[in-house]
Amino acid sequence: MEAILLVGGQGTRLRPLTISTPKPLLPTAGVAFLAHQLARAQAAGVDRIVFATSYRAEMFEAAFGTHAHGVDLAYVSEAEPLGTGGAIRNAARALTCDPDEPVLILNGDILSGHDVTAQVALHEKSSAAVTLHLTRVEDPSRFGCVPTDPDGRVAAFLEKTPHPVTDQINAGCYVFRRSAIDTIPEHEVVSVERETFPSLISSGAVVMGYVETAYWLDVGTPQAFVQGSRDLVLGKIASSAMPGEPGERLTLHGAIVSPGAVVRGGTTVGRGAEVEPGATVIGSVLQDGAFVAEGATVRDSVVGRGARVGAGAVLDGVILGDGAMVGPGNELRDGLRLWPGIALPPTAVRFSTDA
Ligand code: GDD
Ligand code: MG
Repeated sequence: MEAILLVGGQGTRLRPLTISTPKPLLPTAGVAFLAHQLARAQAAGVDRIVFATSYRAEMFEAAFGTHAHGVDLAYVSEAEPLGTGGAIRNAARALTCDPDEPVLILNGDILSGHDVTAQVALHEKSSAAVTLHLTRVEDPSRFGCVPTDPDGRVAAFLEKTPHPVTDQINAGCYVFRRSAIDTIPEHEVVSVERETFPSLISSGAVVMGYVETAYWLDVGTPQAFVQGSRDLVLGKIASSAMPGEPGERLTLHGAIVSPGAVVRGGTTVGRGAEVEPGATVIGSVLQDGAFVAEGATVRDSVVGRGARVGAGAVLDGVILGDGAMVGPGNELRDGLRLWPGIALPPTAVRFSTDA
């Protein structure tokens, strides 16, 4: 089976990490995020993937070439982003399958443990134009809300509605009959969520929902990105692309973790990164060359390439851009993001813990 992977978004919610690297290529549990998706697609019977690129398009081919994780790869780039539907239509130029064959379409920022083979089987059995993987989340207003009939047919598609009618949402993995892709207008900006799905449904085409609530995560926010990496390292979602066994931490080549440091909770320690004695790192991503000094605490955070956390500093739910520096004694929390190269001086004021 052939697939199209949508990877053209700018990943704005993940800045500053996505300034230098597109979201799908961010190092996640030791490899580019997409490596996990490629490995899972291969396991589901996909043997060829067309990347629909736009933002920093050249970096994808440089990262994966023409064959990776058992899958042949092709690249189609949009000069100006065409939206999710326009990107699918544009990338379909590079497909080789027949009009009646199923094509898998994947959002490029999803970690999913669902059974793709069962989704394709439902698609074939229903002779559907499109079959969407649907899952359930606590806050459906941030996603595409997708109610279905008792027979599993999609009744409506409501993208990011403030008043969701169900907690069932679009999980960002579709099976399209090849000929259904050809109904999307060419050379135009089109949203598959706001235009293609609603118009297919209103035209009476068979659009099916494949509901499965396996492990599922959109890694598009800083908090979710850190969680995805942590869950992969801990083995909460299996990935054959991970360079190591699941466990409390993944330590990459050339990393130095002092025996006097505590590093756990699914932390990744990147190549050449260093954690000094007395430091504590929990559930975090230390990118290549990052440095955590003695007595510092890093939790649920990303420390960018070559970024430094000074002695005794505390980071909790923070993103440090590449090369950023947090001077000794600083305390940063809850969604704070430091841009590349920013240096915070050491704090002059010291707080006593029992004050
Ligand atoms: N090539 C290309 N061109 N790709 C694009 C473009 C574009 O113009 N715009 C977005 N993409 C890619 C992104 O790179 C990403 O992989 C995917 O399309 C989805 O875009 P996001 O920006 O991550 O969308 P979202 O998370 O807000 O919402 C989408 O995903 C949800 C599930 O996580 C929608 O499909 C929702 O309906 C869905 O619930
Ligand atoms: Mg997303």
